[in-house]
Amino acid sequence: MSSYWSPLVHSLNPYIPGEQPKVDGLIKLNTNENPYPPAPGVAQLLQRPETAERLRLYPDPNSQSLKDAIADYHQLTPDQVFTGNGSDDVLAMAFMGLLKHSRPIIFPDITYSFYPVYCQLFGIEYQQIPLGDDFSLTLDDYSADNGGIIFANPNAPTGLALTLEQLEPLLQRNTGSVVVVDEAYVDFGAESAVALIDRFPNLLVVQTLSKSRSLAGMRLGFAAGQAHLIEALNRVKNSFNPYPIDRIAEAAGRIAIQDEAYFSSCCQKIMSTRQATSDALIELGFEVLPSKTNFLFARPPVGLEAAQLSERLRQDKVLIRYFNRPRIDGYLRISIGTDADMAVMLNFVRGYLSGPSAD
Ligand SMILES: Cc1ncc(COP(=O)(O)O)c(C=O)c1O
Repeated sequence: MSSYWSPLVHSLNPYIPGEQPKVDGLIKLNTNENPYPPAPGVAQLLQRPETAERLRLYPDPNSQSLKDAIADYHQLTPDQVFTGNGSDDVLAMAFMGLLKHSRPIIFPDITYSFYPVYCQLFGIEYQQIPLGDDFSLTLDDYSADNGGIIFANPNAPTGLALTLEQLEPLLQRNTGSVVVVDEAYVDFGAESAVALIDRFPNLLVVQTLSKSRSLAGMRLGFAAGQAHLIEALNRVKNSFNPYPIDRIAEAAGRIAIQDEAYFSSCCQKIMSTRQATSDALIELGFEVLPSKTNFLFARPPVGLEAAQLSERLRQDKVLIRYFNRPRIDGYLRISIGTDADMAVMLNFVRGYLSGPSAD
């Protein structure tokens, strides 16, 4: 606390990102990173001397080559695409530019915990709608008059996904405000609402290159929507930071989007490791939610507390995510690593279950 702080800063309750410890030999299954490297062209880009040489010049403020690649991939026009410094940055622009109205916005009680943080920062009132006891999201509950709706699909940290058939009636009904669908994990088996953009002027879809494209360290995300929504995001961006994407990130993002064969082989590997891990955890007595993401949300069997299991794994240099929050404090979120990573994690868990201190 300091008297120099603005009243706003005094009132903030900032987001706490998952840990990034600097410990050798750690198996990191706590922040949903991809265990595989980005498309091979990204490493080649970083090795070329001209990549460094060109850093003396500002990047393209529109990141046009990246937008073109995204538009091409999703069969959109470039003016239907907005790019940002990670999808957190894109979400910030959407909160400021499209969700800040006089009425409260609505989102689920269990979802990406950054949403209430943005509301606080930007002075947006919000109402949280409880998920069902099975963590299902019922879009009929989102019919109140609102200043906007936002949810993650698939949801985090549950991993559960809605189909487009379930989503469409909400878009049809909620014509008075924007519906933001945060698709950070969509590439691991869910349906993308990008296919609905031409039909719904109130739909903004946000995606990231951090997960399925293995570029979390590069910080790239994008939004897709009709041009009038994208223009709002550009107006905010150009009033805040006109160059959010550096030259290397723009080129790396373009390479990652264009290498479709590499992308789909990584996603396939992760989905198959996810299935095998889920089967193994169920066999060990865990309750595991059906995931369409690169993580599993699982409740350990009786006798093994979630918090205690997370702590024991940490001592054995395996990091997973435990949320000490009502309703989900009995669960663990386990990111999908390589088959070898998951085998190590499962072996430790088997050991704790058979060991003397498991009961
Ligand atoms: C649901 C959801 N949305 C957005 C993000 C932000 O991702 P990034 O800023 O790396 O693009 C995350 C990160 O974990 C997430 O879980």
